[in-house]
Formats: sequence, C-alpha cells, structure tokens
Amino acid sequence: MGLEKIIDKKNNDLSKKIDKQRVPEHVAIIMDGNGRWATKKGLPRSFGHNKGVSTLKEILKASKRLGCKVLTVYAFSTENWTRPRKEVNFLINLFSDVLQNEINGIHEESTKIKFIGDLSPFPETLKKIISSSESLTKKNNEFLFNVCVNYGGRQEIVKVARKLALKSFSGEIKPSEVDEELFNSELLTQGIKDPELLIRTSGEKRLSNFLLWQLAYSEIYISDLLWPDFNEYEFLKAIVDYQSRNRRFGGIESLNNKSFEDSQHSS
Ligand code: FPP
Repeated sequence: MGLEKIIDKKNNDLSKKIDKQRVPEHVAIIMDGNGRWATKKGLPRSFGHNKGVSTLKEILKASKRLGCKVLTVYAFSTENWTRPRKEVNFLINLFSDVLQNEINGIHEESTKIKFIGDLSPFPETLKKIISSSESLTKKNNEFLFNVCVNYGGRQEIVKVARKLALKSFSGEIKPSEVDEELFNSELLTQGIKDPELLIRTSGEKRLSNFLLWQLAYSEIYISDLLWPDFNEYEFLKAIVDYQSRNRRFGGIESLNNKSFEDSQHSS
C-alpha cells in the first residue's frame, strides 16, 4: 500500500509534488455542500448526504495512505438541529447505518474512532452504536478518526471556562494557574495535536463554530467543490497547497534563518 501507486493512477505530477516528510499529522474537514449538490441535480437533499458518505470513506483512506495520523470531520453542528425534522432524522439514521456498516472495516484498519460533541440529545440507539464503536476501536493506534457531532466551538470553550472556574472556586486550582496548557487539557480534543490544515468545501470561507480554539494556527484550504464531488485527487491538491506555504506561527521563519539585519541589507 504505497502513496505512489494510488497517485500514479490519477496524476503523476501530483505525486511528485508531495513531500512525504511534511505531510500534516492532523487534518480537519468541514464537509459542506451535500444539500446543494443534490438540489443542483434535482434530487432530495438526502442523496447528497449519502454521496457525502462515499466521499468521506475515500478521504479517510486517502489521508491514512498519505501518512496523516488524525482526521477530524464536522458531521453535525449544534446549529444543524434547526434543519427540518425530517432531515435531522435522516442524518441521525445515516450516522447509525454508516457506523454499523463500516465499523468492522475501520477496526481492521487499526483506526480508532472518537465522537466529539454533546451526545446527550441523540437517541439511545445511536448513543449505543457510538459507544460500542468507540470501545471496539479504543486500543487502535494506527490512525485516529474524530467525528464531531452536535459540536460547537464556542460551547466547548464556555464549558472549559466553567469547569476551570469551578475548580478555582473550590480551591483545586489557583486562578493564576489557568493558562493555555491547562485550558487545552480540558478540551474535548485533549491529548490530540491541533490540526495543521483545515479543509472546507463548497467555497464558503467561514469557520462555522468548528474547533475555534484548535484551529488558531491552522492553514485553511477552501475548495470550491461541493463535498460529494470532493475526492482523493482534490485532497492531495490541498496537501500540495499546504506544503507550498510557509508556516510562521507569527514569527519570521520566512527570512530563512537570516537575521533581521541581514535581510534588511540584502533587500
Ligand atoms: C454538510 O452539507 C454535511 C452535513 C451536515 C452532514 C455530513 C455527514 C456525513 C457525510 C455522514 C458522516 C457519517 C459518519 C458516521 C461519520 P450540507 O447539508 O450543509 O449542505 P448544504 O450546505 O449544501 O446545505
């Protein structure tokens, strides 16, 4: 199972452009555009969600093959409850069906699946499927697949703030001990490296309340394709684009180790 073989089938040039040493460890994706994809084709929105699942399976495989270690996808936001009840129910059933059909394959691939978000409003049947999928795969260590459901970045941050305030009130911690590290340790993504790359499909240029804390320094790649049309080739294009960027984290790495004075003289 090599990266070369997969890419050669589709596009030779792209395979040569990817630096296997600089593959992002963690990629996050806002899978947007399922509904529009279906509507454009005169189909019910549910068709778009079904096709979106095929895309997700392709990207999960592709990211693993490429050498990424974590993939986090936004499958259901806290705002998605405002959709018509029929669509919400369809999505809930889809999550159950997909999990039941795919969990053995996911497990065989030594992938750990983790659901991130407030699961409490979901039906018991889905909660049970989620819990058994998580426990079946909990020891897998090849790859981590995070699925964000009923997730909202602001809600997550508020919960952490409340938890730390309570700990401080009870004397367990001092207010002065609250720092980024402590805050991080209370997030739902605790222990997981922040995503180096965020991909969003359908051309929208918003974060939509997704991983607000964790995406602070991530590179953002916007694809104009609707999620059901996104594929491995497009994913690799995003990786090539990511690798072409100079990640500075607010510093001046772009000076290529020259001192500021050197750069002033030579420019
Ligand atoms: C966004 O398109 C997509 C969703 C809200 C659902 C995505 C869910 C899946 C692909 C299933 C994943 C399943 C598991 C178990 C991980 P949209 O409906 O917002 O499209 P629109 O913006 O065109 O309306």
